Amino acid sequence: MTITIDSIIAITKEAGELLLSAKRPKIMEKSGHANFVTETDEKVQRFLMERLGKALPEAKFLGEEDGQDVFSSKMANGYCFVIDPIDGTSNFIYEYRPSVISVGLLKEGKPYMGVVYNPYDDMLFSAVEGQGAYMNGERIMSSEAPLSNQLACFGTAPYYTEYRDRSFDIAKKLLPLCVDLRRSGTAAWDLCCVAIGRCGLYFEMKLQIWDYAAAALIATEAGCKVTDIDGNPLSYTGASSALCMSRGVKEIPECFK
Ligand code: IPD
Ligand code: CA
Ligand code: CA
Repeated sequence: MTITIDSIIAITKEAGELLLSAKRPKIMEKSGHANFVTETDEKVQRFLMERLGKALPEAKFLGEEDGQDVFSSKMANGYCFVIDPIDGTSNFIYEYRPSVISVGLLKEGKPYMGVVYNPYDDMLFSAVEGQGAYMNGERIMSSEAPLSNQLACFGTAPYYTEYRDRSFDIAKKLLPLCVDLRRSGTAAWDLCCVAIGRCGLYFEMKLQIWDYAAAALIATEAGCKVTDIDGNPLSYTGASSALCMSRGVKEIPECFK
């Protein structure tokens, strides 16, 4: 059996309703600094697994919640959905927008399809490997402007205190190279912002696969260069740092060296 990007889009959009209709969800704590999960994260993941599982029964699942978060070598064979039911859980808890739903599909361990949905602004990003990136059905490309004419964004790797000094050291050196810095609270959204030309660059010192499985493909298909912060390919078997540069940013800036 195969699956179309349109069916993943339809299922992800339906899941967006669960975010929009959530009222004061119960909040639980996970390990790491200020790392929370709400009952809505779990509900969205269950919904996605049930619906995507029916659409592509042979697919395996790697999801952030409900104990589905351990990568196994089996996931590198055939199809594997990589899900972040809410990317930006802190934003969700504090009603600081956006939060997005991220659904990536790996085929033989490589990014094949990706959907990122921000239900608050009804912005849906999608990509199929080799077929370009889209926002609400319109083709998108990253900006060709140099970094000095663009915003840059970064993530604080909030759950990994060991990366704090390095993150802020890079951010401090990056600020004079760009127009200004932004921190949205969702890595998948940041990558989509570079893909659509709102930002010229995004970096974060440590992410998990579900944070970028969908959005890194979308950014790549929009002409971005997406690597770890040393310029190596992103990992699809474990955690990774991330650096995403739009078409106008030709080289890794000095501050990463
Ligand atoms: C987090 C967000 C945040 C990023 C963290 C992620 P979560 O995901 O993407 O922007 O800085 O590294 O873990 O916990 O909200 O799904
Ligand atoms: Ca996440
Ligand atoms: Ca999450």
